[in-house]
Parts: sequence; C-alpha cells; structure tokens
Amino acid sequence: MNQASLYQHANQVQRHDAKLILDEFASTLQWRTDGEDTLLDVGSGSGNVLMDFVKPLLPSRGQLVGTDISSQMVGYASKHYQREERTRFQVLDIGCESLPQELRGRFDHVTSFYCLHWVQNLKGALGNIYNLLRPEGGDCLLAFLASNPVYEVYKILKTKEKWSSYMQDVEQFISPLHYSLNPGEEFSQLLNEVGFIHHNVEIRNEVFVYEGVRTLKDNVKAICPFLERMPSTLHEDFLDDFIEIVISMNLQQGESNQDQKFLSPYKLVVAYARKSPEFVNNVLLEPPHQSIFKGVD
Ligand SMILES: C[S@@+](CC[C@H](N)C(=O)[O-])C[C@H]1O[C@@H](n2cnc3c(N)ncnc32)[C@H](O)[C@@H]1O
Repeated sequence: MNQASLYQHANQVQRHDAKLILDEFASTLQWRTDGEDTLLDVGSGSGNVLMDFVKPLLPSRGQLVGTDISSQMVGYASKHYQREERTRFQVLDIGCESLPQELRGRFDHVTSFYCLHWVQNLKGALGNIYNLLRPEGGDCLLAFLASNPVYEVYKILKTKEKWSSYMQDVEQFISPLHYSLNPGEEFSQLLNEVGFIHHNVEIRNEVFVYEGVRTLKDNVKAICPFLERMPSTLHEDFLDDFIEIVISMNLQQGESNQDQKFLSPYKLVVAYARKSPEFVNNVLLEPPHQSIFKGVD
C-alpha cells in the first residue's frame, strides 16, 4: 500500500465512508471553546481524506498532523499539501512500542479512517491513540474494516502455486477482527482495557458496488500489499485471477462488459471514544446522552 498517487485516485470507497462518518460525528467531537484544537490523523495515506473532509471541520486556528507508517505516503502528502497552513505530515507507526515524546499527550482529537485493520496489535494501537490525547481529555473517531470479501480472495490466491510465494504472510494483512464473532463487543472491550471510559462502537454492514472490471482492478492495485512484491509483468495476471475468484464467490452482477458490476459487502467498525467524560477543555460537561454513549463502570 505504497503507491500514493494510485491510491489518491482510486479511494472512492474510503472517501465515501469517511465523508458520511465525519458529517455524522462533526458535532459530537468536543471542539475547544478557544478554537485552538490540535488533531492527529492516523494512517492518512495520500492525505486527501484528511484535507478534503477533516480539515474543513477544524477551527481556523487549529493544528493538523497527518501521520502514516509509510514514508512514501508521508512524502507524497507533504509535497502535495505543502501550501496548507497549520498542517504537517510525519511518519508514525501507530502500533509502535513507544510514542515519540513530541506527540505524546499533545492532541485534542485523533481520527483514523481505513487504517486500523492493517494493525495486528490493535490493543497497542488503541493504547497509543489514548496516549496521544491530552492527559486532561480528548476524543477519537475511528473507522476501519472488521471484514471484507477481499480477505477471502487473498486466502484463495495464496493456495495457488503461482502466487503463494508472494503471500506467505497473508494473515498479517487480514483485519484482526475478521474472524471475530462479535467484533463490536471485542473492540469495545479493547477500548475499555486501554482506558477509554465512554465510547460508542457500531458495526455497519455496507455494500460497495464497483462499476466494471477496471474500477475494481484499480482499487485492488491501490491497496493490495502483495503486488509490490512481484514483477510488474505479473500484475495483470494476478488481477485477472483476483476477478475470477470474485466471480466464483457470486459477487458479480450483469453479464456484458458494459453492465458488469462487482459487489463488496463489508463490515465497518465506527467508534467514537472520549478519554475523560467529565472534563473536556476544563469545562464540566452535562452527563452524556445515553443513546450516543455507552458508559462502562
Ligand atoms: C487505506 S489507506 C487509508 C488512507 C486514508 N486514511 C483514507 O481514508 O483514504 C491506509 C493507510 O494506513 C497506513 N498504515 C498501515 N499500517 C499503519 C500503521 N501501523 N501505522 C500508521 N499507518 C499505517 C498505510 O500506509 C496506508 O497509507
């Protein structure tokens, strides 16, 4: 998932979901009264979701830090958005053992879209998100895949002799919640364990429709971690096998090339959590609304 410019032009699903979720949670996020909010985004990728949908919510004096494990993504975003004020990008592995000191406890908000399914050490990542927030409080909005048919396609591809040598570690690229019988409960439990007291976790069943083979192939190219390990001369063959498996899984609609569609039914985790429910920017809050927040004793 290193091809920043490819990703920037083939992330329709991710953009669609991030926009809907941000519209929904914009007024739930606990904005400071002084307009000096600091926000860190985890796994910003090429940066367009962050700049198009998150930045417009930030007060005019707010500061934005986009982060990503990939230096190639960070380089692309830094260059592409170098003229943006109060915005910088830096490398950060959210699953790291120890956070850089200059980021620890500095942020009012942490957001992350379509990243945490890449992180096998989910509890470590959540602990880091908790510690990025200010000691006195702060909140986070996280959206990532619990499951997606693409993971089953990867597993079938791995059984083929042609591709298996490139895909030995396929399980490392499958969401840590993919096999969970109750991903919402499991994620809530992790949020509790790292210290988030009040949170709301939803599992949303969504279906995205890819119009035509090329659209699906471009999206796979932009996110599939195995392609960059093989010679580019094999890419089209790999993508053809990918499509063949999708068809065998009955995820195709329409017969002719013109009306061919591919369905991707996936489960999205959408979680909002507050570090401290009582104090936000040193202002005592009303008790949270029960239908929005689940309290945990
Ligand atoms: C699918 S992209 C999402 C980009 C952007 N948030 C969006 O919604 O379009 C996932 C990003 O997560 C990054 N990523 C994967 N593992 C990560 C980790 N451990 N820490 C930080 N970023 C990570 C990848 O490099 C990639 O850029």
